[in-house]
Amino acid sequence: MANGRVVHTADRMIGSRQLAALLPAEVVARPGYRSLADAVRTLILDGRVALHVRLPAERELAEAVGASRATVTAAYDLLRQSGYVRSRRGSGTWTELPDGHAPVGAHALVGAGGYSADGDTGIDLAIAAMGAPEDSLTDALARAAVRLPLLARSPGYHPFGLPDLRAAVADRFTRRGLPTRPEQILVTAGAQQAFALVVGLLCRPGDRVVTENPTYANALDALRHARLRTGSIAVSDTGWDLDIAESTLRQTVPRLAYVIPDFHNPTGSLMPPEQRRRLLDVTRATGTWLVVDETIADIALDVPPAAPLASRSGADHVLTIGSLSKTHWGGVRVGWVRATAKLITELTALRVSTDMTGSVLDQLVALHLLADLDRSLPLRLDQLRERRAALVASLERHTPEWSWRTQPGGLSLWVDLGEPVSSALAERAAAVGVHIGRGARFGVDPGTFEHRLRIPYTLPADRLDEGVRLLAQAFHDGVPLAPGVERPYWVA
Ligand SMILES: Cc1ncc(COP(=O)(O)O)c(C=O)c1O
Repeated sequence: MANGRVVHTADRMIGSRQLAALLPAEVVARPGYRSLADAVRTLILDGRVALHVRLPAERELAEAVGASRATVTAAYDLLRQSGYVRSRRGSGTWTELPDGHAPVGAHALVGAGGYSADGDTGIDLAIAAMGAPEDSLTDALARAAVRLPLLARSPGYHPFGLPDLRAAVADRFTRRGLPTRPEQILVTAGAQQAFALVVGLLCRPGDRVVTENPTYANALDALRHARLRTGSIAVSDTGWDLDIAESTLRQTVPRLAYVIPDFHNPTGSLMPPEQRRRLLDVTRATGTWLVVDETIADIALDVPPAAPLASRSGADHVLTIGSLSKTHWGGVRVGWVRATAKLITELTALRVSTDMTGSVLDQLVALHLLADLDRSLPLRLDQLRERRAALVASLERHTPEWSWRTQPGGLSLWVDLGEPVSSALAERAAAVGVHIGRGARFGVDPGTFEHRLRIPYTLPADRLDEGVRLLAQAFHDGVPLAPGVERPYWVA
């Protein structure tokens, strides 16, 4: 499992064999200095090799990958020139990011070009989320302003979340078929913070955690930062193989399993009820905490939304996380964890040590957004259905050789390019202003899912069409297949 692990060792060094194990097989088979530099840079950008980690001495790495020392020296030189490593006399070569470069997760969020002072990030197909529904946000803000003065008389710290919001979130779970008390809800700054808190509370460095493969890239980053060993269960756009998933869970007995059963990110698959039951049973039997990410559960485009996975008996080991980011807006940083009241208390103690409390203003806005959900959500779903149809039409027009499966919900298509060129294509596309989630970003192991691109249908139809046209052009112009071909986009 060395491949799925990030290297965040206590002494901040990565050994030559550890690094060699993280490199894609084709780089080790035929190490050229450019391909080596390219692969190390990708590991740094993906967070698989942490920042401020000392790389192996050139001679050792040369031995481990079967290259000449000159090749490794040239690769390190290239990384140094482009700002991905720094060498200190007498203390070796250390990883870092070039000045002004966005860090790992943020890199995807702000587009592959990094931060842009004027906010122009080109055509952003890297993020599967929409802008706020204008009317409901301004309305919620106006209502929040009315309630704020009363709350503003108190110091404003509500580490569990505003009582009314906890009650509203609990009530929504109850209406969806999972009876929930407000004490079972912790309000967080989005689902990502919810996940990081759960991992922080329940796991210790070195623990084994199982995720789907592929899975949500920022969840993988959170596991890497927590120094956990990641095992995986496969999911594709045709769904999960629960026989294999069950035997993986029984054999590895992980501390925690993380799943996205509702319109899984990035494949869009929806887990059938029978598989939910089996997953619940096997994780209970192995004593594994089961974290169910429901962030996309409401984006049910062609089917009714499923009842929460935890709404079955014997689900005390399930923690359910969610947020308003897909139904409303990622800029309202409100999400939640639903678990037993005892776990919620423990999670809250941890949250106080990280950010004390959530923003009262955001929570007030969230309270009104939730109250308005039954009206606003159908409008959003209509818009997404239209945009999905527009994306499909653009793909059929510009790249009929690509294939994809239209799923019953979610915000993106998991497109099969037919060739393992996704990273190279994403880099070419970035050079013409299209930012896109290459397949490997979602893989537990490096160099995987190179034949896949995740294309969200969250932009307006004309932007989608222009994005797909540019992607198709980059694809048809010939994407370099072999690693190490000149990639002017990143080489300084
Ligand atoms: C599956 C999944 N989980 C969590 C998140 C993070 O959401 P939030 O903005 O609520 O932190 C996302 C956002 O893309 C997601 O797709």
